[in-house]
Amino acid sequence: MLKLTLALAALALAASCNQEPSAPKRNPRLPEPSALAATMQAMTADMEALKIKAQEGTLTLADVESLRMAHESIKTDQPTKPEDIKESFPGFAEAYLANLDNLYQAIKNQGDVEAQIEAFNAVISTCESCHQQHCPGPLERIGGIKAATLAS
Ligand code: HEC
Repeated sequence: MLKLTLALAALALAASCNQEPSAPKRNPRLPEPSALAATMQAMTADMEALKIKAQEGTLTLADVESLRMAHESIKTDQPTKPEDIKESFPGFAEAYLANLDNLYQAIKNQGDVEAQIEAFNAVISTCESCHQQHCPGPLERIGGIKAATLAS
């Protein structure tokens, strides 16, 4: 829990949908991130932590299972600006969770490392798709979570 809190605190300094890093900070009257922003910060920390394991082919079913449970709340979490949430959001949220399930299957099938990396990167691509429509600010950071393929 302490680890999570520290990770969240570190991320809170970096985050937000704003594209310009110099843009004003969050409304000071709203010091707490929304439930959705808090989940997103945890998702970012989780996926960044798993990137190396994905590259090494050492992801476990338990890793993905705990992500799946922790990230499921994106379907219901309250966003900062509900008026900015588009009709496409639930579809992207389902696609994201479905891609986590695909990653689980790729590990379960003991697919080769390349297949697991592809499945991991497909999850990150879903982060990108939803962000292109909803929240372009973190796109560069999200792109950086993609695992290097063995071929490249
Ligand atoms: C279904 C759409 C969707 C998916 C999938 C998604 N995001 Fe987000 N993300 C959002 C929205 C909307 C916000 C704005 C949340 C808010 O401000 O309440 C956000 C916010 C963020 C933020 C900024 C948080 C902050 O402190 O303001 C980061 C970083 C982020 N997402 C990373 C990710 C990563 C990494 C993934 C995939 C592992 C991901 N997102 C998947 C929609 C999505």
